[in-house]
Amino acid sequence: MAVVFDEKKALFTLYTKNSMYQMKKDDLGVLLHTYYGRKTENTDYSYLIYCKDRGFAANPYDAEKNRTYSTEILPQEYSCFGTGDYRTSALRIRGAGGCRVLDLRYENCEILEGKYTIPGMPAVYAQEGDSAKTLVVTLKDKAEDIFVHLYYGVMENLDMITRAVRIENRTAQPVYLEKAASMCLDQIYGSYDWMTFYGKHEMERQLSRTPVHHGLQSVGSVRGASSHHYNPFVILADHRTGETQGECYGFSLLYSGNFLAEAELDQANQTRVVMGIHPDNFDFELKAGDDFWTPEAAMVYSCGGFEKMSQIYHYAYRNNLCRGKYKKARRPVLMNNWEGTYFDFTGDKLVEMAKEAAALGVELFVMDDGWFGKRDDDFSGLGDWYVNEKKLGCTLGKLSERIHGLGLKFGIWFEPECVSEDSDLYREHPDWAFQIPGRKPVRGRYQLVLDFSRQDVRDHVFAQMCEVLDHAEIDYLKWDFNRNITDIFSAALPAHRQGEICHRYVLGLYDFLEKLINRYPNILLEGCSGGGGRFDAGMLYYSPQIWCSDDTDAIERLKIQYGTSFAYPISAVGSHVSASPNHQTGRKTPIATRATVAMAGTFGYELDPMKLSEEEKTEIREQIRVYKGYYDLIQDGKYYRITDPYRDEAFTVWEFAAEDGSEALVSAVSVKTYPNAAPVYVKLRGLLEDKFYVMNGERYLGAALMYGGFRLPAFRGEYQSWNFHFVLEK
Ligand code: GLA
Repeated sequence: MAVVFDEKKALFTLYTKNSMYQMKKDDLGVLLHTYYGRKTENTDYSYLIYCKDRGFAANPYDAEKNRTYSTEILPQEYSCFGTGDYRTSALRIRGAGGCRVLDLRYENCEILEGKYTIPGMPAVYAQEGDSAKTLVVTLKDKAEDIFVHLYYGVMENLDMITRAVRIENRTAQPVYLEKAASMCLDQIYGSYDWMTFYGKHEMERQLSRTPVHHGLQSVGSVRGASSHHYNPFVILADHRTGETQGECYGFSLLYSGNFLAEAELDQANQTRVVMGIHPDNFDFELKAGDDFWTPEAAMVYSCGGFEKMSQIYHYAYRNNLCRGKYKKARRPVLMNNWEGTYFDFTGDKLVEMAKEAAALGVELFVMDDGWFGKRDDDFSGLGDWYVNEKKLGCTLGKLSERIHGLGLKFGIWFEPECVSEDSDLYREHPDWAFQIPGRKPVRGRYQLVLDFSRQDVRDHVFAQMCEVLDHAEIDYLKWDFNRNITDIFSAALPAHRQGEICHRYVLGLYDFLEKLINRYPNILLEGCSGGGGRFDAGMLYYSPQIWCSDDTDAIERLKIQYGTSFAYPISAVGSHVSASPNHQTGRKTPIATRATVAMAGTFGYELDPMKLSEEEKTEIREQIRVYKGYYDLIQDGKYYRITDPYRDEAFTVWEFAAEDGSEALVSAVSVKTYPNAAPVYVKLRGLLEDKFYVMNGERYLGAALMYGGFRLPAFRGEYQSWNFHFVLEK
């Protein structure tokens, strides 16, 4: 039973394979959070709650003389503002009279078969055989007809609980949402670390781990996209938790826009986590009778360290979030021309490159930025999605034919959300770009952002894209977004609704993507935003892979891909071999190492194959052959972070192990070299303890490799790499 409602005790308990989540309606009808953690049977955890008069605490009127009852100490299931809980709140609504006070009390509940969905927004879905249930707990403001429906998706087999909130205005007046978080979690006690993933363009998802301290700490984005700078995924971990042991909680927001993730340690050493749409510049009108859905948050509890948590996310996101043909179908090895040519190409040049690529074993050739409008640099052309036949020397249909004639699939790049001032689109519709009347717009990469909150704008761009896609054989589409939003003003909304734009923008983006994937179900979509500027679970609902970073330096990628792997599956991580010296860092690395690192993702190349030596070509042919052989193991196997690139200086090591333990691929890259170096040993994982494995003719017992370890080779010179393939002895 994934959801148990004990009416007598007013207790709701959610069970997944290994976790348990609990809340209780108290005598005043306040919904208290009692527990989230390891699964135990038949436990009412409200015994952990301790009430005491703490002084300066607010007591609800109906608590009467009980001065120990205060919502600022009691663990709240979904905290609201203005009635005594002074910690950060999940919900703040401005009523018609201007007052922001809410007092949410239990109204009713419903247990539904299957997993709820959210109209127009991404959500984890259940598949045949998944035992999924939905619990809806409805709270209502004590005075006004504001209803708050808390949705819990209990994905028992996946070991995941999802949450979303629907807020309903049944009053006769409009009300305004100022903050509407997707989740709130109060942990009664615990000594936690707060782990977040920060970064910048060309250096995304760097891990930060700090103790939760008194007061508020948060990460978020007000950039209109989830951003390179902070990822909408955070972890709350016990101080002692490591890769393979200890307790931790993952919180992943399925949302691609402004978000806020907060942690607060309060006066009683309780920890609150709140996550959802960023409240800054958010002011959403809810007319009488309307409702509002928050995005979904997916929570995972692990008592087996970060590794277990990540593997739960990987499996769930690969199987129960990604959709479409390429969720399961083999992703082609691609070659993208961006770092090979940048804007400087012709159709003939691309065909020449594609010919070489085909001879190397590449399966998909991608024409990146520069094929449309007037686009020979990044100062013009965005918004004019018609083929520059002069530059290509032929129609797109013809070019796709030529590429297909080489036995390759063909893909192209789009940046539908942006516009250059030097474009026909902008000249015709300047008000379609975000800008404020009377001010000059702020540029980013010398371009502006189109107001995708508007249906007419989206329809126009969609029609342009269809015109292109319908006249050529396109197998792959890279969807880019190369700046963040400023000048937030929509000509289509009245003054008092300008605070809705950023959320409406994301809804518009999702609406567009949904239409696109429905119309072109055979196209493989790769998300991108200047690399990994919108690498989030929301985008994975539409594009099963996302370009991980514009930094293609193999050594930098070790940390970027390490951070990315905490929440996101390998099959989502776009990763390419590029030229050396690397274009972003100038670092020189062997092509074998670049391939080893790129293989921990959806593999491809991003260089000019005409510039490769014969030796490199031979090596690439071999790399592609090897990658194809490991494909299933890499994409579907369990991923293990064997070393921590922030701590282990000599080597970065990771492993893919087949679910059934039949084989494992261990990849190692040397990042630092020492004289007279000490040997480095690693312990493998995910093997069958009592079985023997063979690697390079040597026999090893699974348990020995896991508990005794394995010595990495001695080496001279940095940036070498090794792939060790352990196969179960027959
Ligand atoms: C972004 C992408 C790159 C490339 C360029 C093209 O930066 O991340 O891969 O597509 O845009 O302008």
